[in-house]
Amino acid sequence: MNNRLHLPIFEKCSEFTLADEARSAGLYPFFKPITKSIGSKVFIDNKEMLMLGSNNYLGLANDPRMAEAAQLASQRYGTSCSGSRFMNGTLDLHEKLEHRLANFVRQEAALCFTTGYQTNLGAISAMLNRGDHVIVDKYDHASIMDGVFMAQGTRKNVNLHRYKHNDLVDLEKVLKKIPLDESKLIVIDGVFSMEGDIAPLPEIRVIADRYKAAIYLDEAHGLGVVGDTGRGSCEHFDNQFDLPDLIMCTFSKSFGSIGGFVAGDSNVIDFIKHMARPLIFSASMPPANIAATMTALDIIENDNSLVQKLQENARLMREGFISYGFDVGTTETAIVPLVIGDNDKTFLLWKNCFEKGVYVNPVISPAVPPSRSLLRTSCMAVHTSDEISYAVDVIGKEARKLSIV
Ligand SMILES: Cc1ncc(COP(=O)(O)O)c(C=O)c1O
Repeated sequence: MNNRLHLPIFEKCSEFTLADEARSAGLYPFFKPITKSIGSKVFIDNKEMLMLGSNNYLGLANDPRMAEAAQLASQRYGTSCSGSRFMNGTLDLHEKLEHRLANFVRQEAALCFTTGYQTNLGAISAMLNRGDHVIVDKYDHASIMDGVFMAQGTRKNVNLHRYKHNDLVDLEKVLKKIPLDESKLIVIDGVFSMEGDIAPLPEIRVIADRYKAAIYLDEAHGLGVVGDTGRGSCEHFDNQFDLPDLIMCTFSKSFGSIGGFVAGDSNVIDFIKHMARPLIFSASMPPANIAATMTALDIIENDNSLVQKLQENARLMREGFISYGFDVGTTETAIVPLVIGDNDKTFLLWKNCFEKGVYVNPVISPAVPPSRSLLRTSCMAVHTSDEISYAVDVIGKEARKLSIV
């Protein structure tokens, strides 16, 4: 053991007891190691569990076509690019994927990062200069906020404004206070990661135009999930692909891989390419993950049956939870929050479901507002309708025992 733990810098670590307290109460839900995944099932502590908490929306992370593509790419290019995109870390595969992604979201150009988190960090911080204004929805993902914080840390005087979740009146109120000719970027999730609801993109575009603001759309939970062919929020809103100015997405959800991209006008993407610190100072996306993402794109582009099945499962799951009396907020997608509001009851319900073999994620502040703790449930295209009904019944019955519904 390190004998310098008495140093002031380490004091906060010994004072942090929250996790240990939860562990000893048997109510610690985090970092559970999964030893095997097959379709909708995972194994934890040698026990088979039904997964109702994954972002592997289309089930592609366990598709043999993806594993085969990843293996072939590793054999040809190695297991790492061993450098940043800027230097020795750009492969022909990166550029091929970027070209295909730009086509997929109907934009001129795209740029891949090593994770979705880095995409937001890099693209948002690159776009914000000293004196610029960034306007975010209060429920935007943490990686968006960190992109803003990075801009504030490196450039100073970046003005952050937050508006009430999906509240167009509040958005307009915020914009009205900013001088018309100052630079503004509105950053929103297309589908909100904890609530599963969809941002009113066409209305936000109208307001943005009125106040000379650009729109940056995070489609992490949009691509592969909404729109008839999985092209996300723009497709959902009548194929209006020109609503956002920049679109980002991660590959760690519907695409069953890891990485992310931002797409938009080629001038803007070229600017981000030369300014985004998380792109320049971090090693590029590995060959296996590029190849897997490309295979996912092949699958999604050639056949919308997985997207359709996911949407059907999502409908079944939403209706099931509503019929048990759960507060599911305003979700319209495969993410269905079960709003409980009380941390203890949230953890207890999680624990009881876990013991019954159903895996869901408890979510508390700061990931959601303090009075809005919830169980985040999410379905996949590889669930059967029987599995969805079974999971809803298990969770519903356990929630009744705790007087949650
Ligand atoms: C809305 C949103 N944006 C970005 C990210 C970051 O993506 P990744 O986990 O692939 O880094 C996430 C991940 O949870 C997300 O939910």
